[in-house]
Amino acid sequence: MANASAIGIHDLSFATTEFVLPHTALAEYNGTDIGKYHKGIGQLSMSVPAADEDIVTLGAAAAAPIIARHGSDGIRTVVFATESSIDQAKAAGVYVHSLLGLPSATRVVELKQACYGATAALQFAIGLVHRDPAQRVLVIASDVSKYELDSPGEATQGAAAVAMLVSADPALVRIEEPSGVFTADVMDFWRPNYRDAALVDGQESITAYLQAVEGSWKDYTEQGGRPLDDFAAFCYHQPFTKMAYKAHRHLLNVTGHDTDDDRVTRDLGLTTAYNTVIGNSYTASVYLGLAALLDQADDLTGKAVAFLSYGSGSVAEFFAGTVVPGYREHLRTEAHREAIDRRKAVDYARYRELHERSFPADGGDHPTPAETTGAFRLAALRGHKRIYETR
Ligand code: COA
Repeated sequence: MANASAIGIHDLSFATTEFVLPHTALAEYNGTDIGKYHKGIGQLSMSVPAADEDIVTLGAAAAAPIIARHGSDGIRTVVFATESSIDQAKAAGVYVHSLLGLPSATRVVELKQACYGATAALQFAIGLVHRDPAQRVLVIASDVSKYELDSPGEATQGAAAVAMLVSADPALVRIEEPSGVFTADVMDFWRPNYRDAALVDGQESITAYLQAVEGSWKDYTEQGGRPLDDFAAFCYHQPFTKMAYKAHRHLLNVTGHDTDDDRVTRDLGLTTAYNTVIGNSYTASVYLGLAALLDQADDLTGKAVAFLSYGSGSVAEFFAGTVVPGYREHLRTEAHREAIDRRKAVDYARYRELHERSFPADGGDHPTPAETTGAFRLAALRGHKRIYETR
């Protein structure tokens, strides 16, 4: 009988794009000192989707290894979290459900709240498993982060998907009660329905993020959460990796702790390895932080890990997980490194061309060039319908 009191992340897998743009190429194009990108924002490169990749192909690529390992038995719900939705009505997860050949006895839904959506999906999944511990929920966080060319946000783009299987008696991380939650109506980042690229007030978004850290931590302690010193590591939402450092220094400050570099690096240094080369993956980014931590840390068995999930607009949640004994046997470290290493570098001109691509809205037949070498591709837009292919 599965244990309803121990629920969490049973498996975690991520996928990223076919192409990558090194920040050196962006700096060379726009005349920026590379120190601003490498040190100032903490980014080395960013993932760039091929013309035939989108949140569906990335989400399917992230989730396929989970289904290959565990099968689909007990998965009755798929929750797809995204900010970069491709349709106002149909959930992107329905395409993924089809590409993965999941059973028809499944509910599929899409969730949105900027970069926070995946955490809402994780919490909803935990609720469903709590109700019936025999069930497992597939959570997919998939985003393509797109800002205007030649804007300050351009350096903080990227794309990736994280898939998580949520179950009772999880093999990786048990998610704990309580959560600290925080909502404030701010306009730091948003994307009106008629736009492909997000609008952002960069400095406002940093301020709003820091306020949300403070607010969600305050609620977490009021709900009876752990003291700060309990945590072996902190996974923050990382729109650019320097943001995690800013957030953690702020949290240490408001809780009366020293903010020396050694402490900050010890607390979160291992969580930034994937985000620093993938770039912003919006709602997946905090879970890429977890993947990097689990894949690299010596041994976290029994240790508490803190999560700070932030989505502009804004909603935040501070919560904790405990790493489960034996977790290292279930990691996908090699596959994760391969997902990063397989990307092909593009030059600035090619990246710009991909960035400017969009489908005509005329309802015609618009095949996409075959560029991705991944298992799933967006083959065309035909009669206003997205046509996907599995290789
Ligand atoms: N060497 C080292 N550091 C440098 C540098 C150099 N040559 N030049 C600048 N920097 C530092 C700056 O001091 C600054 O660091 P600080 O924030 O610790 O003071 C950092 O690099 C960024 O410089 P800034 O002038 O603030 O950059 P910007 O105006 O281009 O904006 C963002 C940066 C992140 C705000 C912008 O990319 C953006 O809007 N991104 C999207 C929004 C986002 O991701 N928000 C996060 C919350 S969700």
